[in-house]
Formats: sequence, C-alpha cells, structure tokens
Amino acid sequence: MRVCAGIVGVFAIVLIAYAGIAQDDRNARSTPPARAVERTRDTVKMLDDIYKTAVVLITDKYVHTEDDFPAGSAAVALFDAIDKKGWHTAQLLDVTGDPYDSENVADDEFEKQAVAKIKNGEKFVEQVEKDAEGKFVLRAMTPVPVVMAKCVLCHPHYQDVPEGAAIGAISYSVPIR
Ligand code: HEC
Repeated sequence: MRVCAGIVGVFAIVLIAYAGIAQDDRNARSTPPARAVERTRDTVKMLDDIYKTAVVLITDKYVHTEDDFPAGSAAVALFDAIDKKGWHTAQLLDVTGDPYDSENVADDEFEKQAVAKIKNGEKFVEQVEKDAEGKFVLRAMTPVPVVMAKCVLCHPHYQDVPEGAAIGAISYSVPIR
C-alpha cells in the first residue's frame, strides 16, 4: 500500500513539473505558430491593397494641382489615426533618398534592410519580431511605384526613376494574434 502511494506521489510530482515546463514553454516560445503568422501576412496584404487603392483614388479624383491636399498627407493622417487606436502601425516611406518630408525614411534595422530589398525589386519583405511588451508582431514592407503621371506634380525627381521601380514603401507592424 505504501509503495503504491509512493508511486502515485512520484507520478503526481512528474505531472506537475511537466505541466509547469509546458506552461513556461508557451510563455517563452521563440516563434509564434506558423498559422498565426500566415493569417497576419494575409491581413497585411489586404491592408496594403486597401491603402494603396485609396491613395490612387484620392490622387485621381481630388488632386489637380500642387496646392491640393496630397494623398501622401492623407495617408500619414490615416496611419496616425489607426496607430492611436492600437490596431497596427503603418508608415509611408521614401526610398529614393529625396523625401518630401525628412521624417518619412527608414529608421531602424528592419526598415533599412527591407528598403534595400525593395530597391532590389522584392515585392514583400517580412520579419517576425517582439514588440516592447514582448508580444509577437509581423514587420513587413511593400513597394510604392509611381502609378500615375500626376505624382510628378509634387515629386519631380520621380521622373528619373525607371518605370515600375519603387519610389516609396509602406512599412507595417501588425500584432500576431
Ligand atoms: C499635391 C502634391 C502631391 C502629389 C500629387 C503626390 N504627393 Fe506624395 N507627398 C506629398 C507630400 C506633401 C508628402 C509629405 C506628406 C507628409 O509627410 O505629411 C508626400 C509624401 C509621399 C511619400 C512619402 C515619402 C516622402 O517623400 O515624404 C511617398 C512615397 C509619396 N508621397 C508618393 C506619392 C505617389 C506615388 C504619388 C502619386 C500617386 C504622390 N505621392 C503624389 C505631395 C504629393
């Protein structure tokens, strides 16, 4: 009987220890589940399409002269509002080396490396990182080409960029849930 109780006791201790390790493992995992990353990548692609469609639409319908409110400024205001609500961050960046606003440039390691890849013709650059609170986020970057002749109204140097090449990029940081 005592031996039996002893065995049960050892079992219980092993089980409790194992549960503890499994819990620690979940808290300290070094990569998020692949399916969660996939879902987040899809979300970034959807957002990218919506934002770019809006910028082109605004430029097409509302911007006629250099004095009109540019879609670039509308995008900056929109991204600020979305960031404040805690959904995700997005930033419109220059990749030509001659930004309209000097704040719109790559400013950390991921962005600098991603801009180099975008200039090399890559269409989607991504990296999983942890944010300041230790939560996983998907960092991503997509190119912005000169899609309309009108863009040159305010960015004259876009004229020197080969057709289809990126003049800008959008940098995303989206929580992986
Ligand atoms: C009416 C003038 C105007 C037009 C037309 C315009 N932009 Fe801009 N663009 C701006 C201004 C002003 C900013 C700076 C926005 C800010 O940071 O508040 C800007 C910023 C940008 C940026 C961020 C990098 C930088 O230079 O600061 C990109 C990329 C960009 N525009 C791309 C485009 C594209 C592509 C088009 C054509 C679809 C376009 N712009 C048309 C005025 C314009």
